[in-house]
Amino acid sequence: MSDFDPRRIARAIREAQITRMEQSTKLVAMAPDGLGEAVLASASDAVVATDREGIITFWNPGAERIFGFATSEAVGRSLDLIVPDNLRPRHWAGYRHVMATGESRYGHGDLLSVPALTKNGSRVSVEFTIVMLRDDRGRPAGTAAILRDVTKRFEETRQLKRELAQSLQSKGGLSR
Ligand code: HEM
Repeated sequence: MSDFDPRRIARAIREAQITRMEQSTKLVAMAPDGLGEAVLASASDAVVATDREGIITFWNPGAERIFGFATSEAVGRSLDLIVPDNLRPRHWAGYRHVMATGESRYGHGDLLSVPALTKNGSRVSVEFTIVMLRDDRGRPAGTAAILRDVTKRFEETRQLKRELAQSLQSKGGLSR
């Protein structure tokens, strides 16, 4: 079984979830058989796995839907495929740090919110958490990210902020 076998990724995600549950409730959840595979095959969230160098090794139907690239177009490419130019230095600095230390700041429920590139050149807003992938000796072997498209909510919030600013401005204008 290769490091990037879907079953290995499903197991890493399940183990991370169990660890989190153990930490918070001291209970061990038994995931039903096939749960991981079913989640990976879903088209709602993107699951993207990469090797140590940040080369894409796994791309699920959710990633195809959100980013527009077919699995065959994404696997084997660098994450630069979906990371916008201006964010690459920060992304790769963080990525290399995580590969060197084996710890991510975004693996315990904290979300990373970023704009991402799609195949048709448009941008989407995504939020994601990171799961460490490790080899048999526990050394960092890559990462898996679970990403959700939050473009609609992001744009609604931006519009509301704009309207609020305009409304405050016009009220300020009236009272002067
Ligand atoms: C979709 C477009 C993406 C953008 C724009 C992006 C951007 C970024 C940025 C700005 C950071 C630095 C965060 C910080 O300093 O707090 C970062 C860190 C990181 N990114 Fe990405 N990223 C993207 C996708 C991904 C994907 C798909 C993966 C994994 C498969 C990934 C793995 C990482 C890792 C491991 C870190 C280090 C996190 C840490 O410090 O704990 N990124 N990224």
